[in-house]
Amino acid sequence: SALAAFGAAADTYPQRPITMVVPFAAGGPTDVVARIVAEPMSRALGQQVVIENVTGAGGTTGITRASQAAPDGYTIMMGHMGTHGAAPALFKGLKYDPAKSFDTVGLAAGTPIVIVAKKSMAAPDLKGFIEAIKAGGASINQAHAGVGSVSHSTGILFDSLVGAKPTLVVYRGTGPALNDLVAGQVDFMTDQIVNVAPQITGGTIKAYAIATPERSPSLPDVPTTKEAGLPEYEVSAWNAVFAPKGLPADVRAKLVAALDTALKDAGARKRILELGGTVPKESEAGPDALQKLVESEVARWTPVLRSAADANP
Ligand code: MLT
Repeated sequence: SALAAFGAAADTYPQRPITMVVPFAAGGPTDVVARIVAEPMSRALGQQVVIENVTGAGGTTGITRASQAAPDGYTIMMGHMGTHGAAPALFKGLKYDPAKSFDTVGLAAGTPIVIVAKKSMAAPDLKGFIEAIKAGGASINQAHAGVGSVSHSTGILFDSLVGAKPTLVVYRGTGPALNDLVAGQVDFMTDQIVNVAPQITGGTIKAYAIATPERSPSLPDVPTTKEAGLPEYEVSAWNAVFAPKGLPADVRAKLVAALDTALKDAGARKRILELGGTVPKESEAGPDALQKLVESEVARWTPVLRSAADANP
């Protein structure tokens, strides 16, 4: 019968490689988290999860493209607090609704935000850094990955909190931005720890503070924003796997199980943790919890970012 045929088709999913769209340039935090989880997901699914970097427009180009793909389980995406939380507040004419255009698969990693600057930035601490960038005004260049991205939204939040008005410099991801920060071509950015931790440890860039209540075990010498005198700047990002709306239930269940298996993979957990990321608890990682997180993050960020954007039009 048709039902049996349908069942058979779903039973053999996946029959070919799966594309995971990463909406930022290779080498940035979204790409790093995607590649960490894609490998054990491939093993769990028995088919290669192939990363495709589709960049531009603060990640909304890639997410829009993935949201319009066939809901057959062969196109998934790595979104995050920017594309599925901040973007509606900042990105005019968004072609998807974070809470309605997707089937959630699950949370992949928590990524605390770190305030990082070029090595030659003279200020010895966060207070001195804030004074310097306020005094520098538009001569200070702040890197970000496009309107609505994590580095953009957490960046304008920082600027509005401290009263700085730097020049914003856009990149196709904070991987390329980090290259310019190391080269001293750009002055600072607020970025996800999984991107910048190795460079901070290696001393090629400076970290003024981490925006979490506690220090990160992977960056023990970096003070929290609270310790550094800016307690109101407390923000963490997260990365999560989504699929276009309308997956067959069996297909969605296989993707959810594969991500769950990936987050139990010792190698994947080790990679996320050593980069300063956090591995979500099982209770907060599933598809229903992610749907709730998206809805609460859009609600939380919209007023905050609209006022931050007004502060620095
Ligand atoms: C961002 O939102 O800033 C992106 O995560 C940067 C990236 O992944 O390259």
